Amino acid sequence: MKVFLTRRISGEGIKILQTSGVCEVSMWDSDEPLPRAELLKRVQGVDGLLCLLSDKIDAEVLDAAGLFKAILPMGPKLKVISTLSVGYDHLVMEEVKKRGIRVGYTPDVLTDATAELTVALLLATARRLPEGIEEVKNGGWSSWKPLWMCGYGLSGSTVGIVGLGRIGMAIARRLLPFGVQRLLYSGRTAKAEAAEVKGEFVPLDTLLAESDFIVISCSLTPETQGMCNKEFFSKMKNTAVFVNSSRGAVVNQEELYQALATGQIAAAGLDVTTPEPLPTDHPLLTLKNCVVLPHVGSATYSTRGIMMGLAARNLLAGLQGTAMPSELHY
Ligand code: DGY
Repeated sequence: MKVFLTRRISGEGIKILQTSGVCEVSMWDSDEPLPRAELLKRVQGVDGLLCLLSDKIDAEVLDAAGLFKAILPMGPKLKVISTLSVGYDHLVMEEVKKRGIRVGYTPDVLTDATAELTVALLLATARRLPEGIEEVKNGGWSSWKPLWMCGYGLSGSTVGIVGLGRIGMAIARRLLPFGVQRLLYSGRTAKAEAAEVKGEFVPLDTLLAESDFIVISCSLTPETQGMCNKEFFSKMKNTAVFVNSSRGAVVNQEELYQALATGQIAAAGLDVTTPEPLPTDHPLLTLKNCVVLPHVGSATYSTRGIMMGLAARNLLAGLQGTAMPSELHY
């Protein structure tokens, strides 16, 4: 069987595949994404595909994978897609389902790293860390001044989490010890596990009106696409800090820019944007009250190594028709 990996992976992940005796591995041996035309070429005739969140896997790719099958009916057929991510909005699931392709993903193993990064981003944004560092370097630090570089603290605050899933819960657990007074959350349904963090399930409008910090931790779906828009920001406090570590497309960036530039909200911290990378001349990057990171939620050496191992095992199980360690049940 043949597998194609759309990016260079290393360590345990590649070892598992190369020593499995189950598949012939071919890989885009680079840290940079492969051009679309190359993906369409390299995917032809493979039984398994290991991809990243930056690869759009749509009907065109799936048809290209099936080309070989069309010529040689007994030939290979794409059986499994293993994505090196917990998010799977880059897979056009309707097309995947139609073709009965199994999907593996990497939940749980990146929860702690992503929650930790989200808390770091929240603190960096609320306490203006990048701006402060810049002032030290550019000579703007003239003396200790009572109201200079003031920001917002978590102690006694109300935090609102939109999407209290695995990562949302891990963020809540980490924020509580900072002295958070109330933890609100919104989403499709109330969650029994929210009791552990004394989470109050409230309508989104209540969360927006009452929170000092709003953290977006939901997945990207047709319902959440563009959810954080002008109306959303207009319901927030002027002193509130907005943080997004889920997917960029949940936010209407032009309307976020307006909310930040006009003082409608205090600040925003984004680990995800549309597009990625965000062009260096993007208006959001001109704002001091906007901290943008390059989608590094799960970027610890250990987490990425574990993700690669899991993605490789998912791929092998999909090829062999056995139970995957983490299968997406659609
Ligand atoms: C994911 O896995 O979906 C994160 O966004 C990156 O690790």
